[in-house]
Amino acid sequence: MTTMTLNAGEAGPAEDQTANPASESAVEQSAVKARAANTNIEVTGTVGSPFCDDAKLSMRNVNVFYGEAQAIHDVSLDIGRNQVVAMIGPSGCGKSTFLRSLNRMNDTIEGCRVEGELTLDGEAIYGPKVDVVPLRARVGMVFQKPNPFPKSIYDNVAYGPKIHGIASRRAELDEIVENSLRRAGLWNEVKDRLDKPGTGLSGGQQQRLCIARAIAVSPEVILMDEPCSALDPIATARIEELIDELRQNYTIAIVTHSMQQAARVSQRTAYFHLGKLVEVNDTETVFTNPEHELTEAYITGRFG
Ligand SMILES: Nc1ncnc2c1ncn2[C@@H]1O[C@H](COP(=O)(O)OP(=O)(O)O)[C@@H](O)[C@H]1O
Ligand SMILES: [Mg+2]
Repeated sequence: MTTMTLNAGEAGPAEDQTANPASESAVEQSAVKARAANTNIEVTGTVGSPFCDDAKLSMRNVNVFYGEAQAIHDVSLDIGRNQVVAMIGPSGCGKSTFLRSLNRMNDTIEGCRVEGELTLDGEAIYGPKVDVVPLRARVGMVFQKPNPFPKSIYDNVAYGPKIHGIASRRAELDEIVENSLRRAGLWNEVKDRLDKPGTGLSGGQQQRLCIARAIAVSPEVILMDEPCSALDPIATARIEELIDELRQNYTIAIVTHSMQQAARVSQRTAYFHLGKLVEVNDTETVFTNPEHELTEAYITGRFG
């Protein structure tokens, strides 16, 4: 076969395409991939609509460092009330780092430093008087791997309300446990075995238990870091339905490596690349008509 150079979007000779369409698209793909990976594509700011009118969380000029290494560069973003924002991008682009800065989970990582202005309902998240314990109840988190405590199903959910002093009487706790498990779509599956260990549940049930545990302390925001990556497709579908239901009462930020999941569960999508926020738009725009070349390269699977 003759070697040829194609510019992106330029079709090769017809006979070549029919002779070897896979090769043609491979050439085109690698051209886009090379351009996307090319550091000459400078990300100077965020394109699209990073801000919104009814922001629950508001981040301005956020920089995050691990020691000397900068993992997040000048990111500004609003997360709207009762909205699901998906954060996508290649592995290592800073999604988890950014998510953890929203409820000060990065404080627990030695050498990690967060700069910038981050507010929850207009109040500074990193203010000098902020107590991180109630903050993390207001901004709860669900992790990649379900991590129930080595306690009963009941105690997993009752633990937070107890330590936060939300409830102490058994009747109050019973009510919170039942409501939280109902909201997490788990009640019917566990109501007859509340005294059994949470770790004895299936992976998908454990993740819903962790969501119930987060809900039990009446959070306002739920952060989810790849909550379905350890789950099978059926358990994943169940969690995705749940996210849509939870949106009525909570504001949700979800990191996902699945673009299909981002498209299914979110209203807005944020695309990160090498620690920068490249593009934020309504989810449909990001997946059908992305503004930035890097977003396009990523969502078409040519990159990352
Ligand atoms: N605890 C840590 N200590 C030092 N560097 C870290 C730590 N966690 C993440 N990083 C670095 O920060 C960058 C962003 O990582 P991360 O936020 O985990 O990305 P993502 O979630 O998008 O895969 C990477 O370069 C990663 O190596
Ligand atoms: Mg991550």
